[in-house]
Amino acid sequence: MKRPLLACLLCAIAALSSPKELSAQEPPAWARHCIYCHSLEEAQAGPAFREIAARYRGIRDPALAAKQLKKSILEGSSGRWGVARMPANVQISEAEAELIAQWLLSLSTP
Ligand code: HEC
Repeated sequence: MKRPLLACLLCAIAALSSPKELSAQEPPAWARHCIYCHSLEEAQAGPAFREIAARYRGIRDPALAAKQLKKSILEGSSGRWGVARMPANVQISEAEAELIAQWLLSLSTP
């Protein structure tokens, strides 16, 4: 039950961000709010998505990495990357946070 649902969500997101599919060049549609403070390659107010991917790929248990990312995305975070803090992203649902966490972990890293 879970897998087809996830697949549908991914299709919907790919359709939303069409013509470009979910790709490293173009953050998916639901990430639009995030890119006020984040970019893929360079640190802005917040760390670059690729840097985040690199750090969390280092965690041996991918489920744990995804769980931590999801928690930070939903609740915000501070003290992990620098002095700035990320406020809670209240407009993001749990399901979206899960997808974003998976997307981050799927990014290629240097
Ligand atoms: C107002 C600016 C701002 C917005 C908007 C924002 N972030 Fe952040 N984000 C930050 C900052 C600053 C940090 C570093 C916080 C720290 O040092 O712990 C951060 C850290 C993170 C981290 C790493 C957290 C960790 O536990 O290591 C992730 C993942 C992340 N942001 C994802 C997102 C996503 C996804 C969105 C959109 C839903 C988003 N951010 C929106 C500023 C922002």
